[in-house]
Amino acid sequence: MHKPDIAAKSPFAVAVEAGKDYFWCSCGKSKGQPFCDGSHKGSSFSPVKFTASETTTVYFCGCKHSKNGPLCDGSHKLLSL
Ligand code: FES
Ligand code: FES
Repeated sequence: MHKPDIAAKSPFAVAVEAGKDYFWCSCGKSKGQPFCDGSHKGSSFSPVKFTASETTTVYFCGCKHSKNGPLCDGSHKLLSL
């Protein structure tokens, strides 16, 4: 199992719109964080779809080590960097 790159040590706050789909970068290589830009190609990673249930601000994981899929769960605090 390959480890993702750590794109950032903190989450990305994004204003999402109800009903829209977002594709979170799980590999950490995208230049358009926190979303996939196709840079995962050739790796074992693929983007994770997030559908916004409401129009709000969402905190997407930037460290790519969250146990809660695309969303930050605080795991970035445990990373030794
Ligand atoms: Fe990271 Fe696509 S660029 S999952
Ligand atoms: Fe990854 Fe918080 S930024 S868990």
